[in-house]
Amino acid sequence: MSQLYQLSQLIVIKFGGTSVSTLKRWQNIYDIVKKHLSNGFCPIIVCSAMQGVSNSLENCLRRAPNENLHDEVAKLKEQHDHLARELGVFPNSAVDEYFRELQQILTGIFLLKEVTPRIHAKVMAYGELCSTQLGALFLQNEGINLKWLDARKYLKSTVTTSTTSYLKAQVDYKFDKEMLHQFQKDQKAQAFLTQGFIASNENDETVLLGRGGSDTSAAYFAAKLKAKRLEIWTDVPGMFTANPQIISHARILKRLSYSEAQEMASSGAKVLHPRSLLPVAQYNIPLHICWTDHPEMSGTIISDREQFAKSSIEAGDAGGGGGGVKSISTKVGITLISIESSQMWQESGFLADLFNVFKKHALSIDLLSTSEMNVTVSLDAETKNLNKNILNDLTLDLQAFGEVKIISGCGVVSLVGKNIRSILHTLGPILKAFEEQEVYLLSQAANNLNLSFVVKEEETNRLLQQLHQHLFGDLVEDKILGPSWNELHATNIKSTKSLPSNTNTERAPWWTSKRHELLKLANEVGSSFVYHQATLAKTATEIQKLKSIDQVFYSIKANSNPQILETFFKKGLGFECVSVYELNHIFKTLYSIDPNKVIFTPNFASQDDYLYALKKRVRVTLDNIYPLTNWPKMWKDKEIFLRLDPGEGRGHHDHVKTAGKGSKFGITIDQLETIFSLLDKYNIKVIGLHVHSGSGIKNHTYWKEMASFLLGICDKFPAVNFIDLGGGLFVPYQPREKSIDLQAMDNAILEMKNLRPEIEFWLEPGRFLVAKSGVILAKVTQTKSKNNLTYVGVDVGMNALIRPALYGSYHHIVNLSRYNENNSIVANVVGPICETGDVIGHNRSLPNTREGDILLIDTVGAYGRSMSSNYNLRPMLKEFFI
Ligand code: LLP
Repeated sequence: MSQLYQLSQLIVIKFGGTSVSTLKRWQNIYDIVKKHLSNGFCPIIVCSAMQGVSNSLENCLRRAPNENLHDEVAKLKEQHDHLARELGVFPNSAVDEYFRELQQILTGIFLLKEVTPRIHAKVMAYGELCSTQLGALFLQNEGINLKWLDARKYLKSTVTTSTTSYLKAQVDYKFDKEMLHQFQKDQKAQAFLTQGFIASNENDETVLLGRGGSDTSAAYFAAKLKAKRLEIWTDVPGMFTANPQIISHARILKRLSYSEAQEMASSGAKVLHPRSLLPVAQYNIPLHICWTDHPEMSGTIISDREQFAKSSIEAGDAGGGGGGVKSISTKVGITLISIESSQMWQESGFLADLFNVFKKHALSIDLLSTSEMNVTVSLDAETKNLNKNILNDLTLDLQAFGEVKIISGCGVVSLVGKNIRSILHTLGPILKAFEEQEVYLLSQAANNLNLSFVVKEEETNRLLQQLHQHLFGDLVEDKILGPSWNELHATNIKSTKSLPSNTNTERAPWWTSKRHELLKLANEVGSSFVYHQATLAKTATEIQKLKSIDQVFYSIKANSNPQILETFFKKGLGFECVSVYELNHIFKTLYSIDPNKVIFTPNFASQDDYLYALKKRVRVTLDNIYPLTNWPKMWKDKEIFLRLDPGEGRGHHDHVKTAGKGSKFGITIDQLETIFSLLDKYNIKVIGLHVHSGSGIKNHTYWKEMASFLLGICDKFPAVNFIDLGGGLFVPYQPREKSIDLQAMDNAILEMKNLRPEIEFWLEPGRFLVAKSGVILAKVTQTKSKNNLTYVGVDVGMNALIRPALYGSYHHIVNLSRYNENNSIVANVVGPICETGDVIGHNRSLPNTREGDILLIDTVGAYGRSMSSNYNLRPMLKEFFI
């Protein structure tokens, strides 16, 4: 009996990287531990490495074979020493020793030029070992009788041979009486502190548990000790009906079953690693997700399904909010592979053979649908190394089975909830959301918990919004559904207002410090576009700092305001134009401009257009062979650029992908053969090659890929002096989106530039240079509530900003007049245009907005005013500068 009593007192509490990186966070851990102690529990604290440390160690491992990393190690050590000083535990001999060892190992790697998985695991372990040494000393100094444990003594991996056994080890998590006795014998310790992520094999070598390893470690400890409960402390309040960063009125889920949580974690919810559920489910150990900032809140409790179902039924709930659907998850970056074949009809073993091909390429399949003639599967975004080469090899092998089609850039929207099959009839109305949407694949999971739709990646957020509105829009708090993200922030965090669109990842946008000036302006001049001169200049400087780029040409279609053109002209930028009207505008605005600093890259231009450009002596780019084959004389003795199609379009929406199948732009490589004789005959010199695959590209290595593509073609054109990599740089629009890493982009392009330093590399960005500098100020005209939806009407509609209606684009909206008030409503922000699509923002969290308030629509400097029209005979908005 006494043993049972002691057994029930153990609880495991886990803290991630951000929670162990500062004094304030360790004081928080202290408070939580103290509370557990006073409630009679014995906490086993499982901690990750300090924030950023695992990434730095991984980086060191990558570079160690070729570089001496003394400086990196010193930097990492200083990060730990800094925390040690904050915690009052400096100097720390254990940490000093770990760093001595780390330096020795890295020197060894440099000499041997190789990192084995065994060494990889050993190096990565230093992050957790150091953070826990510092934290343990701090808690002991604060008076907690705590013992530091080496997790590797307790978590033992089951396999010892392969690479994965070092880097993604499996640990046996059966209840371990022996281990429990060891803990119980330790009469002196009130609490224990150990590492997440690491374990050891039977040779006592360090092994790692892979991604999300700390959650998993904590779950293993909980299972092996049959703990009373497992608490995962995080930066968010719990699991939600949808990702609250996209749906701010998503509700917290107070209760979930293990299988539901597992399904949510596997289908995109990031709070919890899916591997951490099985160990606790096995012994019915409740798992609590707790919010570090608000320890008093109960968060999400994941526990036994049967008990939980009983309590829901007693509460008159048919299965937990939303007719059985608990949440909607989304994943992007999915690749679909479809194999069409007549061989598979009643052919035994066909699928087995087919799947073996995926096994051979170490690709794991996520979703699957089959018919008599077709098998379609999806490969996960996180599938390691899913690059073009692997896909090409896979396609070659799969072609033995039938015709293979690869559809990349897909997203999955998953409805998760128990007994999803039995509630299909209730989903009728929500399927309307797919009305204008091609669904590539529909999959209902065998576990009866998940119904997934694979669609185009750029449609996932729109679908998520619509489905969430259908399923949860009308629901209020109950046994399962808690408050919404908005409500939690409105009541729990006094200072929370509408976040600027680049919260967390960037500096506050320029307008946060100019609110009064903007309000004054809006009241004087009415709704308008406003640009920030300093941001324009700063962005131009940023892009001109790229070492790999010799000349930047501003793509004026993004915004052709004369003052913006002047600003960039003074900064030394060139200009890219796509019509004779843009050319004309440049020469009128910047009369002293050197025509060599103007490039003309039109599409389906007329002979007259080209003649005009040639007369103006600007650089001309042809994106079709037609002008050469049909009007060759026009190009006699001329120098031209060719725009090539690299075969794949990129960008934030299909409409803005300007390469690959289905796109009207560019010349394909196989078309080049037809023009060589013409070039000779008419003495036409190709002096530059150009590529532009689309707009809003996030991957910083894209421009390097394009440089490599064009350099590969240069040999065919000996006169090439210029490589124009086009534009396309992404900018963040949504809260928490990150800017493109310019430094990394520059380094990547430099690798190519260094191969041919004599060739000039050019870039022609539009959006990047102007987007952030511009906002729209819009006056509220009326508000309305209809069919459970709130509308806030403004005097600016899709005629002034068409991007939301045309691409489903997100532009952040804040109420400038009530900037310091908490958000209390969720509304569609709509314009006055006579079209239902005239919505500037769906489901936006705003303070209690009234007629006359001024709303700020953010990040509209690019493709805002330049795409606006007089539709409904509304006048175009005026433009002002601050
Ligand atoms: N070069 C060429 C040949 C282009 O066609 C474009 C844009 C650019 C450069 C500049 O691309 P950027 O750096 O701005 O991504 N209206 C859409 C964007 C259309 C882009 C058209 N071409 C939007 O609002 O997202």
